[in-house]
Amino acid sequence: MKKVNVGLLGFGNIGVGSYKVLEMNRKRIAEVSGADIEFTKILEKDVHRKRDVSVSLDRFTQDPDVILKDPSISIVVELLGGIEPASGFMLAAMKNGKHVVTANKAAVAANYDELTNTAKAGGVMFRFEASVCGGIPLLNALTTALAANEYEEILGILNGTTNYILTQMTENGLAYEEALKAAQDKGFAEADPTADVEGIDAANKLSILLSVAFGMRVPPEQIPAEGISKITKTDIDRAKAEGAKIKLIASAKKSGNGVVYSVKPTFIPEDHPLAGVGDEFNAVFVKGNAVDELMFYGKGAGPLPTGSAVIGDVVEIAKAL
Ligand code: HSE
Repeated sequence: MKKVNVGLLGFGNIGVGSYKVLEMNRKRIAEVSGADIEFTKILEKDVHRKRDVSVSLDRFTQDPDVILKDPSISIVVELLGGIEPASGFMLAAMKNGKHVVTANKAAVAANYDELTNTAKAGGVMFRFEASVCGGIPLLNALTTALAANEYEEILGILNGTTNYILTQMTENGLAYEEALKAAQDKGFAEADPTADVEGIDAANKLSILLSVAFGMRVPPEQIPAEGISKITKTDIDRAKAEGAKIKLIASAKKSGNGVVYSVKPTFIPEDHPLAGVGDEFNAVFVKGNAVDELMFYGKGAGPLPTGSAVIGDVVEIAKAL
């Protein structure tokens, strides 16, 4: 069986989740990919942090070039988060002939053209399924099974942390800070949760969806975005009194010759399917001009669901090698 060596940049929540998915389903992954896939090197400073996976210390490095220049590594998985140095590392990996997989929506949204063009120019694959809605195979669906459509609308809950916070405030009466802390403990939130609660993370994901589905480059900072940090118990109660729930909704809709887009907290009637989407779950409604209406639902955050998408991308590349 062919051996596929993978270099991992970052061993935080999602890095550990991806590592676990590969260990947990090793036999099945070997069968479907036709390859023996292994994380042979891991870029990580904090090698002694307590993690519930056992990795021999000689796999760790603090020098990115040990991975980016290693001829035995054919796939680089970037899970550092943040725009830099992650984007620079991905570009360097591509220029060195390595295929790249990432879950990093901030980097993909900020540098979409440069990353996709560099991959094309270098004849390498660049996959980023995990960057939008964690475990939901949305980008795959939009670019393969649904590729025959013109998209008319994409709308949904794209951030797990804020959905978790709003659910806990609405269903269990938790205070905002308490619910945020729980989301952080569960590994849903970004390193700096401001990106989640201010709608920036959802805007990054919407920017990627605008590129993938509508062929439009809209930098995330140009997407009107409002978060949930100012939502109070009074707002939650007001929504309840109106038979609604507050959800952070990202939307893009064709209008005339253009597309209108935004991220904002929205009152959703309790009998609407999106109102039933709780905790870290995400849901995305897609309308295509041939397929008509579709709904995608699943865990949009968390180490294993996101790791599922990361390793799915690695498997797709390994199959093609
Ligand atoms: N912080 C993100 C979220 C992680 O809560 O949705 C997944 O992108």
